[in-house]
Amino acid sequence: MHIFRAGPPAGPCYKETSGQRSAAGLWVWGRKGSFVLKKIVINGGRPLYGEITIGGAKNAAVAIIPAAILVDGVCRIDNLPMISDVKVQLEILKEMGAGVRLVSRNCVELDCRNLRPENAPEELMRRIRASYYILGALLSRDGKAVCALPGGCNFGGVRPIDQHIKGFEALGATVDIGLNGTITVRAENGVKGAEIYLDVVSVGATVNVMLAATLAEGQTIIENAAKEPHVVDLANFLNSMGAEIRGAGTDVIKIRGVKRLSGGFYSIIPDQIEAGTYLAAAAAAGGSVLVKNVIPKHLDCITAKLSEMGCEIEELDDAVRITRVGRLQKTNIKTLPYPGFPTDMQPQVGALLSLAEGTSIITEGVWDSRYRYMDELRRMGGQSQVNGKVCVVEGVSHLQGTEVTAWDLRAGAAMVVAGLAAQGETVINQMNYIERGYEDLVGKLQAVGADIRVEEFPEN
Ligand code: EPZ
Repeated sequence: MHIFRAGPPAGPCYKETSGQRSAAGLWVWGRKGSFVLKKIVINGGRPLYGEITIGGAKNAAVAIIPAAILVDGVCRIDNLPMISDVKVQLEILKEMGAGVRLVSRNCVELDCRNLRPENAPEELMRRIRASYYILGALLSRDGKAVCALPGGCNFGGVRPIDQHIKGFEALGATVDIGLNGTITVRAENGVKGAEIYLDVVSVGATVNVMLAATLAEGQTIIENAAKEPHVVDLANFLNSMGAEIRGAGTDVIKIRGVKRLSGGFYSIIPDQIEAGTYLAAAAAAGGSVLVKNVIPKHLDCITAKLSEMGCEIEELDDAVRITRVGRLQKTNIKTLPYPGFPTDMQPQVGALLSLAEGTSIITEGVWDSRYRYMDELRRMGGQSQVNGKVCVVEGVSHLQGTEVTAWDLRAGAAMVVAGLAAQGETVINQMNYIERGYEDLVGKLQAVGADIRVEEFPEN
């Protein structure tokens, strides 16, 4: 099994000091400017009131951007979240020679017709997990691909890619992982459709095989496919460009290879996890918040649990209102692939359960473990016992603000949820992890009454 451990650079993150922007008008993340340390500072205990608008889905965006490699024309992608993972993906394409034009803050035009794959920027590719989607896209278009093994949040477990490799090999490719951390995929006789049964439900492998099969010869069937909303969004994007993909959102996806994808326009779905995170924030702080621009169906598994915990949930067409007045109540959580409770909400709800009345049990059903954030909650007065995939949480009457660390993207979000409820000041280090998945998190929370700010320190 091919595994790798990597994570984005911890600690200081870049801030553009020169005011320079790349040709695409994008803030280039981690390439220019000077190092600064950015922390989030929260004075907790203030209930939240008002409205929060949700942006485009991160995990859809980081799959759809490399999918543009398949398009023989210009594609305009709207509702892109301007988060660092998206900026890195756009920068990777730009350095490979793609045309990247910022139409507005959250809308870009991509033209990959003059892509030079040999120019794939290794350093940038190692920064994020989703850079490996470029493999599937290039294999489909060119019959070969060479990429650096990707990075991504390292939340304490291995993140294998054996199912991606199984899919590529089934499609007629050979896969070599070089000692220098690069992966080479090559289909000497072209990419041929195949039937692929994924041993585990994997979002990444489902996405990569879908990309690789889009321009293949013949039909590909993916069985035991992931059903997440972002998988469906990718299929809808590809179909809007001329692909023939059926069954996305079920566990059997059929892809009939086509010769060419033309350009077009697509708008990315709202982010299920961003929405869930702000619902959890309001549940933690108390008050009443309307979370707008959501697909309520995608939030069912999250709102059901928040209701069990004593929150009042009101569903509208494209918004959800959460109100929490009394104390949160205990509940049990088991994370599962969609439509189960999402693993990417586990840390945020773990922070909530730390304040709930009674004892709760969390079972992490997707990753080996994902409880490093519980160490930080203990520093705030939280009480929990972790044993492998299971965490038993004893609710406490209050958390005490202190200095904590965001060890990964969702662990960072959990620290924000806890800090909003805690008494006193909470300082969250390594804010760059939070910026990977949340656009303007501080601004959105300030707008509903949170006492939250960013502090910058020059790296000494
Ligand atoms: C995607 O990661 C998401 N990232 C993750 O979100 C999310 O936690 C995860 O799906 C599960 O929903 C992106 O979409 C960019 P998987 P991915 O392949 O694709 C095992 C966030 O916070 N597996 O669905 O890497 C794997 O070990 C991030 O936004 C294999 O065994 O996850 C895990 O146990 C964090 N072999 C399970 O499958 C493989 O080849 C699910 O992994 C691939 C995966």
